[in-house]
Amino acid sequence: MFPVRKAASSRYGDPARVVGPGAPHQEAAIVTPLKPASWSYAETFVAEDDVLAAARSRAEEVGVVAIGSGGGAALRFLASVLDARAVVEIGTGTGVSGLWLLRGMRADGVLTTVDIEAEHQRLARQSFAEAGIPAQRARTISGAALDVLPRLTDGHYDLVFCDGDKAEYAAYLKEALRLLRPGGVVAFDNALWHDRVADPAQRDEDTVSIRELGRQVADHDGLVPVLLPVGDGLLVAKKEWSPEHV
Ligand SMILES: C[S@@+](CC[C@H](N)C(=O)[O-])C[C@H]1O[C@@H](n2cnc3c(N)ncnc32)[C@H](O)[C@@H]1O
Repeated sequence: MFPVRKAASSRYGDPARVVGPGAPHQEAAIVTPLKPASWSYAETFVAEDDVLAAARSRAEEVGVVAIGSGGGAALRFLASVLDARAVVEIGTGTGVSGLWLLRGMRADGVLTTVDIEAEHQRLARQSFAEAGIPAQRARTISGAALDVLPRLTDGHYDLVFCDGDKAEYAAYLKEALRLLRPGGVVAFDNALWHDRVADPAQRDEDTVSIRELGRQVADHDGLVPVLLPVGDGLLVAKKEWSPEHV
């Protein structure tokens, strides 16, 4: 049996009462929170190379918050186990997450990446070129996600990674379910949103949007969900095949 240890009280009070959206009626099986040293060990377990470091420093220069290395490694892992040939990314930034995705995909795989800021995409293309990625493997589309996504092909994609406007996450889920092939995977960065999602007292627009998304994903009959506590939280769900959910 899985051993359950009760955690010490946190700033949210009794941790046994802080439960996820999927199980509001049950006592959470809480394990003692990780020590910061274990947390950083896990986050940096897969090292970033100079190309990723350069993309990350470009992100800092233009005020883009790139995915952490733990989340990036998780994206590369997902792209790799899916043997991904076609991936959509919402929120290109300067290419940190794109590099991780491209490195997990098949050698002939194409990343379609959308961003509202053309300048961010220019910097991302620079990052991809520095990594030696052929230009035809990264299709950058400049525009608002909710204008661009409806133009992409239904059921064609293996993985959809969402990291754009947090208030639009529920709309991204709807688009992702249309874009994904059965067995494909949708992933959302910032699913814990700086510790705010688990704190019911936090009710700003972005926190409420991400909390609501978590509830929808956890309750969706056609999805197999998991919330990975890497970085700022990576919510991942596999689209099951079902006529009602295609
Ligand atoms: C958190 S950053 C993405 C970081 C990137 N995924 C990475 O990890 O390297 C969010 C990006 O989404 C873009 N963005 C914000 N709102 C958007 C929208 N409505 N449509 C498309 N892109 C948007 C921003 O310009 C920014 O580059």
